[in-house]
Amino acid sequence: MHFDVIVIGAGAAGMMCAATAGQRGRRVLLLDHATKLAEKIRISGGGRSNFTNVYARHDCYVSENPNFCRSALAQYTPQHFIALMERHGIAYHEKKLGQLFCDDSSQQLIDMLDAECRAAGVDRRMGVTVHKVGRNETFQLETSAGSFSCESLVIATGGLSIPQIGATAFGYQIAEQFGLPVTKLDPALVPLTFHVEDAARFAPLAGVSLDTEVRIGKVRFRESVLFTHKGLSGPAILQISSYWRPGQEIVIDLLPDLDVDAWLEERAGSEQLLANAMGELGWPKRFAEAWLDGQGANVRGKDLAPKKRRQLAETLHNWRVLPNGTQGYKKAEVTRGGVSTRALSSKTMMANDVPGLFFIGEVVDITGWLGGYNFQWAWSSGFVAGKNC
Ligand code: FDA
Repeated sequence: MHFDVIVIGAGAAGMMCAATAGQRGRRVLLLDHATKLAEKIRISGGGRSNFTNVYARHDCYVSENPNFCRSALAQYTPQHFIALMERHGIAYHEKKLGQLFCDDSSQQLIDMLDAECRAAGVDRRMGVTVHKVGRNETFQLETSAGSFSCESLVIATGGLSIPQIGATAFGYQIAEQFGLPVTKLDPALVPLTFHVEDAARFAPLAGVSLDTEVRIGKVRFRESVLFTHKGLSGPAILQISSYWRPGQEIVIDLLPDLDVDAWLEERAGSEQLLANAMGELGWPKRFAEAWLDGQGANVRGKDLAPKKRRQLAETLHNWRVLPNGTQGYKKAEVTRGGVSTRALSSKTMMANDVPGLFFIGEVVDITGWLGGYNFQWAWSSGFVAGKNC
């Protein structure tokens, strides 16, 4: 059976692309090996999907070439997606930092994209395994549902995170088959793990969350850090994990709004234990005690020598942590790396050297920050390919 366009992967980017191409009058087949539609949209944002970020711009993305996403983000902006939601009467709200969530359920987004595909005449088939992709004048697909051919083939099979709901390396394999480079792949937006000694020391603090600033070099995020049984998580850690490389230290300012040295100096004559005083700063007492014990500084204010005070202030503003790894693809929200942007047109998402072959969404080497940026990339890249495939 012949189609103008076949899109493999009925997730966020694939559905957007299929609907856009169908609206142009293209005859579109949308295939997915999963039986359930767009599971990642369903589980995203705690079931309410953080579906975009109003501040999405190219420098909120990690890539060999973050400039690559400028064109797609300009062609299909967060406002375009918001307008689509409003046309479908889906209520939403801003949580913080430009992050938009559905008021009710992420299922509404899936239903909306599905409705857009239906209205555009897209033939969607789930539970289909693609065995083989070949190419001469057209692309030929051998699948569990039979043979198909098409002029344009769009790969929208996402990244490697959460294999338990159907993530596969299919997109990277197709890229390699057609000679497109794939950059190094790593779990991203992922909790970091402690070395054994730190894990033992901080295990009792699992569940403690603190407002911090986390840095690697010039990259910094001002959000909360959560202590877990294995290491560190929370928004600030997930964000920095996309920049972290094995062997690298991360630096955490545990009191970013305070001149700690001056604050400690004010307590120089005080009888109060520092762990109790830190409670006034909003620190849980068990955290303050464990932290100060670890520094040999759980003393009364008056007993803190000036040299020790300066050391303590320095450590509180620049706590250096050397993670030993991440919690891997099972816990990662996304994959860092992917089909190299060098091999694709930023204006159309088509492979430079393979006319008719497109890659969109997470399978491309474009990784957004936490906060709706990854879905916006899926919408923008899906739309752009849909206009050109
Ligand atoms: P996506 O993963 O959505 O779709 C890929 C599709 O391809 C799937 O339907 C899959 O079944 C199919 N597929 C895979 N291999 C195949 C094969 N071999 N054959 C056929 N089909 C195949 N982002 C954000 O912006 N805001 C948020 O709130 C969240 N929250 C979130 C929570 C959790 C728990 C995770 C894991 C991820 C997020 N994300 C997120 C990230 C976001 O879900 C992700 O970036 C997008 O879904 C990527 O869209 P794609 O369409 O590229 O892939």
